[in-house]
Amino acid sequence: MALSKMFAKCMGTAHALSIKTLKDIPKPAGSLPLLGHYLQVRRRPGNLSDFYLKHFQDLGPIFRLEFPGGKNVVCFADPDAMEAVYRAEGINPIRTFAGPANFQWFYKKKNFPTPFVFLTGEEWRNARSKHKNQILPQNVHQYIPGFISATERFIRNISESSTDDDGYIEDIHSLIKIWSMEASAYFTFGADIDTTKSSLPETQKFHEGFSTLVSTIDDFITALPLFKYFPSKMVKTLSKATDDLYSIGRKYIDLHQESESGYSLMDQLLKEGRMSKEEIIMSAIFLMASALDTISSNSSYLLYELSKRPDIQEKVYKQVTSALGSTNAISGEVLQMMPYLGCVIKETQRITPISPNHIRTVTKDVNLLGYNIPAQTLTMYSTLAVSRNERFFKNPLDFDPDRWNRDKIHSFSILPFGLGPKSCWGRRFAEVEMKVLLALLCQNYKMESIEAPSAQIKVKEKLFTRPLNPIRIRFIQRQ
Ligand code: HEM
Repeated sequence: MALSKMFAKCMGTAHALSIKTLKDIPKPAGSLPLLGHYLQVRRRPGNLSDFYLKHFQDLGPIFRLEFPGGKNVVCFADPDAMEAVYRAEGINPIRTFAGPANFQWFYKKKNFPTPFVFLTGEEWRNARSKHKNQILPQNVHQYIPGFISATERFIRNISESSTDDDGYIEDIHSLIKIWSMEASAYFTFGADIDTTKSSLPETQKFHEGFSTLVSTIDDFITALPLFKYFPSKMVKTLSKATDDLYSIGRKYIDLHQESESGYSLMDQLLKEGRMSKEEIIMSAIFLMASALDTISSNSSYLLYELSKRPDIQEKVYKQVTSALGSTNAISGEVLQMMPYLGCVIKETQRITPISPNHIRTVTKDVNLLGYNIPAQTLTMYSTLAVSRNERFFKNPLDFDPDRWNRDKIHSFSILPFGLGPKSCWGRRFAEVEMKVLLALLCQNYKMESIEAPSAQIKVKEKLFTRPLNPIRIRFIQRQ
């Protein structure tokens, strides 16, 4: 054999020996024949993220779980590996196994158009591209006056809210949910709602419809599709909420068509003329539903962290008053003058993420931490494990917004809004809404908590996380 051929053969063998395969990735003990780790995952005590954290501690930064049908989920906690997954996700990223399928079935059965969140492949890309103008910064900034009104009503609601004997509001999350609903209704439907003062039956219907939709989505996405064959209470509930919201949407879209002057999401999509009225209504409903829980939970985490830390509130207050004085004249440019608010929001998202895990199916072979992962494998990136790792964040349990100005942080480390073409559509709305909230609240109030600064909020995790317990805060009016 020629020397060069022999050399190539030896190198090939060495290469084959050094590359580890999917099967070489460590896995937790107790995988059962046929079922794999399925029962361990289903019957785990506590949140899924805690289950993952425990296995990262025991097995290192990568492990795999086995599921029925010979499926594997590769779980990892490393930002470089996430970057590699991102490069291998393709132009039509795939997020979950079951979610889209359940909702696609539901909308087909109801004869409603499927919102883009639940579409896949080319269909998803086409539908999402019809909503691209609405997330441009200049477009999002035009809603700031509506966000200011909703926040001023929130501040009024705080001042009118009942407190315990020590002056604490028992559960700020319920007031935050009203604020989030009002702010989101403004940019999606063009609706100006004052929930606590309105006596309109429609306001009630709007709230009930969205609360039901939001509380059913998580369970429906992950449900086994037995509802296709047997009547299901969940499908009935979802169906009623969707019908109620559709009828409200129908009323709004007819109003918009008559007035032609509005600039809500519905108005804009109507004027662009690329979608049917039914598609626009379903889109507005689902974008609003996507906004409600995420923004309200994130904002409650924000107030929870701030209320424990007067020093950070003071820094926010100083930046806000130097940009705004005592006015409420917030604009896109003014937000640029308050970068510390962004650091506080990011640090909150690091400490208590809304989405602690990111899921992607890789569309081509990819090397993750020395293992060859074949195309079509489902991967799960735990940003929570990365957030708690000293290697990526110094003193990881400290709430330290300045780290985002000071330290060199891997850009794939926490990803609060996901990444790539399938990342969060509403990111800019969320960031602007939360900055308006933070600015006006800290300008008007000091917040106090009975929790120690090192206390960690407990969350309930389904598709996204939410506060598990009521959040008690005392608000003291600034002079
Ligand atoms: C603090 C608030 C929010 C957080 C933390 C958040 C987080 C996320 C995350 C992590 C994803 C998955 C991204 C991925 O897989 O790469 C996502 C998707 C999505 N979010 Fe958000 N979100 C927030 C607010 C909003 C708002 C306000 C809206 C709508 C106005 C929205 C609409 C969506 C939509 C439509 C998707 C699916 C995108 C697609 O599949 O094409 N989100 N969000």
